[in-house]
Amino acid sequence: MQQPRQAIIVLDFGSQYSRLITRRVRECRVYSELVPATTTLAQLQQHPYLDIKGFILSGGPASVYDDQAPACDPAILHSGIPVLGICYGMQILAQQLGGHVAPASGRREYGPATLEILTGAAADPRFFSIFEGIGATPAQTNPLDEPRSVTPLRIPVWMSHGDSVDILPGGFKALARTESNPVTAMANAQGMVGLQFHPEVTHTPQGKEIIRNFLYRICGCEPTWTTGSVIEEAVAQIRQRIGKDRVICGLSGGVDSAVAALLVHRAVGDQLTCVFVDTGCLRAGEREQVVDTFSRHLHIPLVVVDARQRFLARLAGVIDPEQKRKIIGEEFIRVFEEQAARLEEQRGPIAFLAQGTLYPDVIESTSHDTAATATRIKTHHNVGGLPEEMALKLVEPLRMLFKDEVREIGLALGLPEEWVWRHPFPGPGLAIRVIGAVDEERLETLRAADTIVIEEIQRAGIYRELGQAFAVLTPLQSVGVMGDGRTYASVVAVRAVTTGDFMTADWARLSPELLARISHRIVNEVPGVNRVVYDITSKPPATIEWE
Ligand code: XMP
Repeated sequence: MQQPRQAIIVLDFGSQYSRLITRRVRECRVYSELVPATTTLAQLQQHPYLDIKGFILSGGPASVYDDQAPACDPAILHSGIPVLGICYGMQILAQQLGGHVAPASGRREYGPATLEILTGAAADPRFFSIFEGIGATPAQTNPLDEPRSVTPLRIPVWMSHGDSVDILPGGFKALARTESNPVTAMANAQGMVGLQFHPEVTHTPQGKEIIRNFLYRICGCEPTWTTGSVIEEAVAQIRQRIGKDRVICGLSGGVDSAVAALLVHRAVGDQLTCVFVDTGCLRAGEREQVVDTFSRHLHIPLVVVDARQRFLARLAGVIDPEQKRKIIGEEFIRVFEEQAARLEEQRGPIAFLAQGTLYPDVIESTSHDTAATATRIKTHHNVGGLPEEMALKLVEPLRMLFKDEVREIGLALGLPEEWVWRHPFPGPGLAIRVIGAVDEERLETLRAADTIVIEEIQRAGIYRELGQAFAVLTPLQSVGVMGDGRTYASVVAVRAVTTGDFMTADWARLSPELLARISHRIVNEVPGVNRVVYDITSKPPATIEWE
């Protein structure tokens, strides 16, 4: 039986920052889960693995005066477990505990603000724990002040709200204000805290310290969510689930499937077989890197399937991007199933399929937001995705992890840095970066150009700052001059973006010198290319990939 794990439950009232709160808590080494705002205490208590140390009520777009304003299960507020309400979370906390919220009176406050901690608030440590140890940043103290005075304490915070609390619930004290909001922080002596600003965003520089105070000083948490403990627990769970059965895992070349495979291998050793399908649409050296890392370096049983001819035959003459995606997705599943059948013939039945599903995907698929109703822009076929017809049970060791946690675990398990930090690569691969019909020659041209883009970006030391960078082979031919002769050859586009979540992105402001080097090398080193252009479109309205 697994030991219950200290946890902070974040109730999601719909703020764009809800996920970020969960991540911040985990960065402070305390496990945290994001659940819908309607979740009840009774539902949460059904999970014996959770030792709930505190709740955080997130912000949200509603006003407590809306007809359908979401509320918090009163049992949570009366459980005696500490609660931190942020923004809307503070307002619902105040209202449900008998205080009053003033409707927005036109004095809305969005963006940076200065929080002033009320003189006297610090006098009673039972109320003040949330700000304990928070000091003025050097920028706010004047070194010429003599004696140096830092009271009243002022710290920069990030606000985004309309309504505000004007009557405190019984037993609460106001701890801080801003110019336009007299109650910007409140607390009672039982560990209930409300913050009108957002401590989870980086625009509140001391926000993490404030969250840490809630976790350690108010909830009494210990730093138990460490890479080591996550690995240990995951391994124990996988072992228990898989038992003596065999498991198969499709590697995509990305970090998620690699870390999933590493965890499963650590748990059940050679009961795991990894399968890597060479679709012919991979980047230069990708297949070699997988073989080198997994087989030679990490000694994980690996089957490499050379399916290049099959994929290219089916893609021949296909121009429509959605059609390309569909073909690659289908063909991938077919190849994977054939391999699984072959492995079963050789070594006996396989019961499990390991997948690198991450926590954001899990939240997305269970969330009540608009993701499900959004217009389909592109069908994202995940090569390595689940062949639905296969009668395999799923093992998803990363289901509760964020990407940054997966990277940390990958490093701890010996995955090379360059692999861990690699930009995402779409499942359909270079087939959706060769615009128009795909054939071996065009793929080879793109591979050569893409290698130069990546090499130069790495050489400039900015690879990690970028969300993605790559080359696109356009179907355009243009006139050029080389030596004394006329050329009529292909146009390559270079795309580099900065992004947080890949839902929106901006084109990267690469330096002219870097662009010049990339362009110069591509037209000189890649046969059949005589022109290079740089894509200066953000997402939206463009997407990151061209197809
Ligand atoms: P877009 O082009 O939609 O891309 O702005 C957003 C992110 O998704 C990746 N992408 C894919 N990933 N299968 C995948 O696994 C796909 O079919 C696919 N299409 C786009 C893209 O590389 C970017 O990171």
